Amino acid sequence: MAETGLLSDGEVAERVFDHVDNKTSDSGEKVWREPVENYHSEARFADEIRLLKHLPVPFCPSAAIPNTGDYVARIAAGTPLVVVRDEEGNVQAFRNACRHRGMQVAQGSGCTKYFVCAYHGWAYRLDGSVQHIPHREGFPDVNEDTHGLVPVEVIERHGLVFVTQEQGISRGALQGLDEIPDVLSPDQTIFASSENTGDVNWKLNMEANLEGLHIKTLHPESFFPYGYDNLNVVESFGNNNRVTFPFRRIEKLRDTPIVERNVAGQLTYVYHLFPNVVIAVLSNHTSVTISEPLTTTSTRFITYRMTNSGETSDKKNVARAKRDAGFLADTGSKEDAAAVRAIQAGLTSGANDHFTFGHYEKAIVHFHEVLSASLQGLPD
Ligand code: FES
Ligand SMILES: [Fe+2]
Repeated sequence: MAETGLLSDGEVAERVFDHVDNKTSDSGEKVWREPVENYHSEARFADEIRLLKHLPVPFCPSAAIPNTGDYVARIAAGTPLVVVRDEEGNVQAFRNACRHRGMQVAQGSGCTKYFVCAYHGWAYRLDGSVQHIPHREGFPDVNEDTHGLVPVEVIERHGLVFVTQEQGISRGALQGLDEIPDVLSPDQTIFASSENTGDVNWKLNMEANLEGLHIKTLHPESFFPYGYDNLNVVESFGNNNRVTFPFRRIEKLRDTPIVERNVAGQLTYVYHLFPNVVIAVLSNHTSVTISEPLTTTSTRFITYRMTNSGETSDKKNVARAKRDAGFLADTGSKEDAAAVRAIQAGLTSGANDHFTFGHYEKAIVHFHEVLSASLQGLPD
């Protein structure tokens, strides 16, 4: 596993116990003032999309395409892409546009031997090369070798498929993939996946996941009875963050030696992979949410719900994971989504010219700091 600099599970628990005893929480050094304009400015949004194209951004979990021919097609940073596992077991990514007249060659997800364009039937192999052009004699100047699907840089690491659409960002702003731990493993079972659109700016949704300052106020009956208010371990690694939300039941690990502490089910780890991905490792399932910005005021949420790493995919485990996911969807997630919509509604009210992220909102400060620096590093 890569050197991430993150605390071990036992050390996280130790830090939690210190906070319980001292009535403290992790806090950052800086307070950040984010201009509200950055949530609705079209120019800023265009730059953020440009940044998303230049970074290696998680596209889907490896577990979404375990076998040869498995593919996922969707829009990423405004561009239709398709990612597929080829005959050799490697992942390939292409711009999802036919080389005849540009129609998308794949929709949604599935398993296929060839991508066959539904318009006039041009067919492509899993490596993107042209397999067949119907009525070939009508295209005397088309060269198959130069008319394959257009590849996009893709890399599979840490149980995730990352795509980079454009090159040319300054190296300093590049996300170091080595700094990311193996949060996911390819053998996890995806038991649900969904896509839906919310009328909110993508960053508001990111922020809602990255602090525990609102547990008692926003989640008095869903999360607070099992957890703590403003008691978190907050770690930044590279451009990313991990926020730990402990449950009160973690107390039973106090007397277990640090290296022997098994924190599964005793806390939630929320990993923020910069810029737009949140992976939450919960008691009985793991959720991956990609917040795909559509406009300044709308976001496509792509969600995968999986069994936890290391769990078998037998019926009992999957049923347990589904119950866990159902509880979350019916309670805390709804409360967060409502809060984010309420913030969105007032963004242009004129009440605030900036939002203040304080010492306990350390992960959000890191997010905005890295985002701001990365935008500066974009090529002209
Ligand atoms: S646009 Fe795809 S075959 Fe014509
Ligand atoms: Fe919340």
